[in-house]
Amino acid sequence: MLLRSIVIILILNNLCGAYKILLVFPVPGRSHAILGEGYVRHLLNDGHEVTYIAPIPMKNSHPKLRQIDVSTNFELMPTDKIFNIEIVLKNQLNLKDFKFLLYATSDFANGTINHPNVQRLIQDPSEHFDVVIAEWLYSELYAGFSSVFNCPLIWSSSMEPHSLVLDLIDEALNPAYNPHHLSDILQPFSFFDRINELWTLIDTKIFKWRLRHRENSMFNIAFESSVTKRGRKLPSFNEVRYNGSLMLGNSHIASGAAVRLPRNYVPIGGYHINEIIDPLPSNLQNLMDDAKNGLIYFSMGSMLLSRNIPIEMKRGLLKVFSKLNQTVLWKFEEELPDLPKNVHIVTWAPQLGILAHPNCKLFITHGGLLSILEAVHFGVPVIGVPMYGDQHLNVNRVVDKGFGKRVDLNSEIATQMDIAIKEVLNEPRFVQKVKEYSLIFHDRLNSPGKVLSYWVSHVIKTNGAPHLRSPAKLVPWYQKLYLDLAFLILVTLYISFKILIKLLTVILSFRSRLNTIKMKLL
Ligand SMILES: *[C@@H]1O[C@H](CO)[C@@H](O)[C@H](O)[C@H]1NC(C)=O
Ligand SMILES: *[C@@H]1O[C@H](CO)[C@@H](O)[C@H](O)[C@H]1NC(C)=O
Repeated sequence: MLLRSIVIILILNNLCGAYKILLVFPVPGRSHAILGEGYVRHLLNDGHEVTYIAPIPMKNSHPKLRQIDVSTNFELMPTDKIFNIEIVLKNQLNLKDFKFLLYATSDFANGTINHPNVQRLIQDPSEHFDVVIAEWLYSELYAGFSSVFNCPLIWSSSMEPHSLVLDLIDEALNPAYNPHHLSDILQPFSFFDRINELWTLIDTKIFKWRLRHRENSMFNIAFESSVTKRGRKLPSFNEVRYNGSLMLGNSHIASGAAVRLPRNYVPIGGYHINEIIDPLPSNLQNLMDDAKNGLIYFSMGSMLLSRNIPIEMKRGLLKVFSKLNQTVLWKFEEELPDLPKNVHIVTWAPQLGILAHPNCKLFITHGGLLSILEAVHFGVPVIGVPMYGDQHLNVNRVVDKGFGKRVDLNSEIATQMDIAIKEVLNEPRFVQKVKEYSLIFHDRLNSPGKVLSYWVSHVIKTNGAPHLRSPAKLVPWYQKLYLDLAFLILVTLYISFKILIKLLTVILSFRSRLNTIKMKLL
């Protein structure tokens, strides 16, 4: 009887395809947590059991959700200190400096995999998972979880597809026409841009290669004992880091570029946006309903604090806002003195509800990809004030696509903002364009959440989806660039040249000897 019910349960489980999934999204920041929680939501909806390594544990509990608390990661990566507007303004935050970025992120990943709660999970031989989904943020150390649990690995990439992530499953993009994700340029590239982009790619590769001993030992120290405990041998870091089955990208063509992608890259941009938007709190709802001339929503995201904007810039912006007919809603962490009548401060903003309101006419944002995707989703034009990371590229693309303007954070910001706001609000082309891109964003075979669910179970069902793997990963780089052929041609040319010279000298000396003999004979 017991046996029969066990068999039935097993069969049912298989039929419904309920799996055990480990989600590794340990970056301590609201926007990264939103990405992780999006997976949690979709996977729980599908009936899977989810274990979520969470920097900001979710409040709502669910019988099939288990959270591994890594909130102490805020100490490892103090995002409030790193991502600070003052530091950005003083140019002290140079995230384009890869060496800093790669060092800091591998240290952070190392801290996470050695976190006591994480170690407790992987050291327990009774734990088992069908797949590991890990957010890639400049380090591949989390690939080790797939070795521990002997299951496929799915990468989640938070940005538009770029060379560093594509290199893990296929190969880097051609730098002649694909800007690096932290670059501040768009096509067409000048000659020097092209050289610069090529050099950035090579420099990054070399630096990653130089970090290999450091990362190898981090990998071995964190994962070796838990793999050995399970009676297996830990593969090398290099084998595992390039062994991802799939990459799910928080990207969409409506906000990115139409780059070519390998078969195991699947864009799911927009999956984090809940289909049912929570109603606005009544004070906000009233404010938005009453904004007869429209409302401008201003938020620098969850990592940056607007209060760190220098006081003279704040004053300048407030002066510009005070002259507008529109209502301005500014996500700001403290009360501002002498607030104009049409400007309202909120310390917390339900962004989706605000953007969804028909009176929201303009979104002033730092250009984080989640914000851009949400603006496209709801069809709201954008003014981007890029600060760090991929925000420059995101905002440049918005400008290029024609549904927004860019304003830089410097002493000119108030004047530039004034011009940009008037242009975007008065010229209908911005709204037209954002509606076009919104249509592109929504016109899909399936919702991004459904796509996410489908591919996760596809990878599990097909034991790591080996059929999707790019053959590019099997070929060494010098063969892809035909450097062996180039070498062969050079060597052949060199040898032929040498032989030719030899022949010529022989012929010449023969002729001169002939001549001397002739002369002697004469
Ligand atoms: C690579 O992934 C496949 C599919 O998940 C798995 O069977 C294989 O053991 C992995 N290899 C290594 C070295 O991790
Ligand atoms: C504000 O509205 C008034 C009256 O509707 C109009 O005359 C004025 O040009 C508007 N100002 C701006 C900055 O749009």
